[in-house]
Amino acid sequence: MCHLSFIRPLSFGLALLFLFCLSGCGPATPSGEPEETYLYAPELSEAELAAITSENLLLANKQHPVDASYSPSLIELPEDAIIHHDSIQMEGTAALALLAMLKGMRADGIRDTYVTSGYRSYAYQEQLFNYYISQEKQNNPSLTDAQAEAIVLTYSAKPGTSEHQTGLCADFMTETMSELDNSFERSRAFEWLSENAAKYGFILRYPNGREDVTGYAYESWHYRFVGRKAAIAIRKAGLTLEEYLESAG
Ligand code: DAL
Ligand code: ZN
Repeated sequence: MCHLSFIRPLSFGLALLFLFCLSGCGPATPSGEPEETYLYAPELSEAELAAITSENLLLANKQHPVDASYSPSLIELPEDAIIHHDSIQMEGTAALALLAMLKGMRADGIRDTYVTSGYRSYAYQEQLFNYYISQEKQNNPSLTDAQAEAIVLTYSAKPGTSEHQTGLCADFMTETMSELDNSFERSRAFEWLSENAAKYGFILRYPNGREDVTGYAYESWHYRFVGRKAAIAIRKAGLTLEEYLESAG
């Protein structure tokens, strides 16, 4: 009798495992299970879940500018979410999804990564673009204005064509990075985002090797809110936002 006593708990455990697998087999990954089974590290509030599952496919790129006067409905990110700026705003729904994503990142032990850029007005983007042109000319005085502008256009958007003017994207930086560059790729946050950003509705907007489609060099730090359904589809198929919109007709 005694030597059989382990059988009952064992078969109970197996039955539980069987039932668990029937009901969806635990945390889903972007490669397989239906999106409804996606689980999240932290508890999400109803408002966060509503934000993450909403959709925003607004396209701002070289071919699709927004009006100089365009400005979304903005909210201020909390101080503990930002770095190198006194204030950063994002479009309200994207901000809520982003804060839920940061919470997930923090829950997984990543506390050194912050937003360093969100919404940028047309006027601010103009300042930034002109600053980069002056920097390029300073680094190489033989460049003409047109040559310097052509270089800058590979990494910075002309005012009116920046996704940052939509307030739907965020640039991330770790506290040990001195500038915004692809050293971000070596951070734990990058690894985490590669695995989890889509669950929160975000995509890597300017992937490596897709300059021909996006118009910009690889930016490992720039994440764009599109909504969970589109983000998962984009990640699964390895698409850019441009290609996803094209395929959706
Ligand atoms: N760096 C991105 C392309 C921008 O300036 O919007
Ligand atoms: Zn950016």
